[in-house]
Amino acid sequence: MCGVKCITFSLWINILSVITEIPAFELELTPQKSVIHIGKDLELICRVNECPGNVTFQWNALMDKYLVGAYKYEHTVSTLLTRTVNDIGIVCIALCDGKRKEKTSQIRVFSLPQDPVLPEIKSLIENQTQMLSCRVHNVYPLEWLKIEWLRGDKTLFVDVPDNVNYDIVQNYTSGFNYTPSVLDLGKNISCKATMSFTEYGFKETRNSNAEYGPGTITTSSNNPSVKLGEHLKITCHADGNPKPTILWFKEETEPALQSQNEELIINNASWSQAGWYRCNASNAVGSLQMRIKVTVLGPPNIPKIQLSHREDPKEGENITILCSSDDGSTELTLYRQSQSTESEAKNKSAVLLKIPSVKITDAGIYVCEAKNDFGSERSTINITVAAQHNVMKMPDLPVVILPTAGSVSLLTIAGLLIRYCRKKARGNSSNIILS
Ligand SMILES: *[C@@H]1O[C@H](CO)[C@@H](O)[C@H](O)[C@H]1NC(C)=O
Ligand SMILES: *[C@@H]1O[C@H](CO)[C@@H](O)[C@H](O)[C@H]1NC(C)=O
Ligand SMILES: *[C@@H]1O[C@H](CO)[C@@H](O)[C@H](O)[C@H]1NC(C)=O
Ligand SMILES: *[C@@H]1O[C@H](CO)[C@@H](O)[C@H](O)[C@H]1NC(C)=O
Ligand SMILES: *[C@@H]1O[C@H](CO)[C@@H](O)[C@H](O)[C@H]1NC(C)=O
Ligand SMILES: *[C@@H]1O[C@H](CO)[C@@H](O)[C@H](O)[C@H]1NC(C)=O
Ligand SMILES: *[C@@H]1O[C@H](CO)[C@@H](O)[C@H](O)[C@H]1NC(C)=O
Ligand SMILES: *[C@@H]1O[C@H](CO)[C@@H](O)[C@H](O)[C@H]1NC(C)=O
Repeated sequence: MCGVKCITFSLWINILSVITEIPAFELELTPQKSVIHIGKDLELICRVNECPGNVTFQWNALMDKYLVGAYKYEHTVSTLLTRTVNDIGIVCIALCDGKRKEKTSQIRVFSLPQDPVLPEIKSLIENQTQMLSCRVHNVYPLEWLKIEWLRGDKTLFVDVPDNVNYDIVQNYTSGFNYTPSVLDLGKNISCKATMSFTEYGFKETRNSNAEYGPGTITTSSNNPSVKLGEHLKITCHADGNPKPTILWFKEETEPALQSQNEELIINNASWSQAGWYRCNASNAVGSLQMRIKVTVLGPPNIPKIQLSHREDPKEGENITILCSSDDGSTELTLYRQSQSTESEAKNKSAVLLKIPSVKITDAGIYVCEAKNDFGSERSTINITVAAQHNVMKMPDLPVVILPTAGSVSLLTIAGLLIRYCRKKARGNSSNIILS
């Protein structure tokens, strides 16, 4: 007797015999759908599984389209290498023991041969609106195109061409009015062209960064100062693509290069390092500069005091005393020691004192003092005033007269004195002639 188990067993036998007697003949075509660039090679693989005999392949294009390419057969696999400029359906037909099967592969073409082209931008300045343009060449089909304008990672604007049904390869220009914000400064601006056809899971992206000249330049300190002997570092930044080259110069009669990079470093500051410096940022598109003044702080240098005459001045001459300093940032005063004498400011680094018709009593010590917040320094000059000989020289007379004329009366002395003075008034001789 044959029970339920027996029926199940015989069913299994039957199923197995069907599988072995009529083998499943499977046809596989890859890819089933694809998007390829116009003119690029396309490879299709048609594979037959489970065919006990020989397989015959045939490749055709749908809709009577012309199919060019190279075919290759290897047992149960055929490979088609082809090219197309149009959307096309390609059929692979396989014959196995007189049985026929076919599969179709749908091919869509697109064109996006190069990166978008962005004209150079002079500079990108905060709150200054300007029209930017980005051109995508030889694009097809236009309805797949999307253009995104980006600043860094941020999308600024998305442009999707509309009213486009032209079945041609064409150029597309995207225009965009852009107003940079302060947060965007220094970031790249880019135009991203994306072709996508989601039905086929296709996406192709091309991106270009705009080249722009420096538009903003900043330094880590705008009004830097450094104490004498100390260290100072100032950095300079500028935006731009390509990244600008930064150079520091000291403004002297000839600008002197201070650094090859963004850091201006002053070690052991000296007076001569004070002054105006210039940071120059430049790239292939443009250049920009910024000036800053570096102040060196410290006690003043010893000032210089000079007399207008090389020798001691003589009574009655006009003299000038000059007090000067070479460090500029000090307050200069010139005075006679233990007296207040007004000096006259000449310029920021010199003061002078004019003494017309100098008198013996003007002789003495003159002080030139330089003073600032960090200390003071002084220089002095001892000015002696030589008496003019044509002026009466009282102290000389007793020395000459008294020893030779011990018994001569005071009246005689007075008489001699008068004579002497009269003689002096007539001539210039300083000899005393007793007659
Ligand atoms: C397959 O083809 C070869 C030569 O083309 C032939 O010799 C062979 O008999 C064929 N096999 C079958 C099963 O038809
Ligand atoms: C697109 O631009 C390229 C390069 O500027 C030019 O050679 C070509 O003729 C343009 N094509 C069309 C359709 O205008
Ligand atoms: C900007 O783009 C250039 C290439 O054009 C790249 O080398 C650079 O790293 C980018 N800069 C930033 C800040 O992303
Ligand atoms: C700093 O400069 C001064 C003056 O030029 C010099 O005398 C001194 O030795 C320098 N100090 C150092 C640490 O270089
Ligand atoms: C900055 O330096 C570059 C290269 O040395 C020079 O061509 C340019 O004129 C300079 N720009 C300014 C504003 O000084
Ligand atoms: C001194 O200056 C006065 C006027 O300021 C001038 O008249 C006089 O000639 C000058 N004297 C000499 C010796 O230069
Ligand atoms: C200030 O006057 C002195 C003396 O005449 C001169 O040597 C110096 O060059 C002047 N300085 C300036 C900044 O004019
Ligand atoms: C200034 O010079 C005079 C004459 O050369 C001298 O007698 C006097 O002592 C000097 N004064 C000082 C403070 O050096």
